[in-house]
Amino acid sequence: MAILKILQYPDERLHKVAKSVARVDESTRKLVRNMAETMYAAPGVGLAATQVDVHERIIVVDVSDTHDQLQVFINPEIIASSGSSDYEEGCLSVPGIYETVCRAEKVTVRALNEKGEPFTLDAEGLLAVCIQHEMDHLVGKVFVEYLSQLKQTRIRAKLKKRLRETM
Ligand code: NI
Repeated sequence: MAILKILQYPDERLHKVAKSVARVDESTRKLVRNMAETMYAAPGVGLAATQVDVHERIIVVDVSDTHDQLQVFINPEIIASSGSSDYEEGCLSVPGIYETVCRAEKVTVRALNEKGEPFTLDAEGLLAVCIQHEMDHLVGKVFVEYLSQLKQTRIRAKLKKRLRETM
């Protein structure tokens, strides 16, 4: 396994749109394992392939307290959603920034697991937030884009400054 490099906002590659996985095979499973290891090491509760510069529709999520309940979604689609809720979100690609985003409260997701088998899952709470946040990455959207232009400009300036300081 390997820990992958996570792209940092405002890297342009975070805005690429991921392609569907045509076939779930050993290389897919290897990527999933590396994504999981990268997420746990960060540590984080979710990671999209986009964030490690692989533009395929794959996300991994683990919102458990014990960090041993990995959930893998390949080619995820939200087939139903309801309600709305505000949640303070963060992102491994936008370190140190936490902002409230309004999303659907409940979602039903259809996806393939790492064996290529289809499944459907009803999610709510943090899991629903996390799935929606990670699926946004697959279409090139970072959570800060839900904020005002002013806030986005401030966040970009802050992260660029921090990047310069660490170089
Ligand atoms: Ni994120």
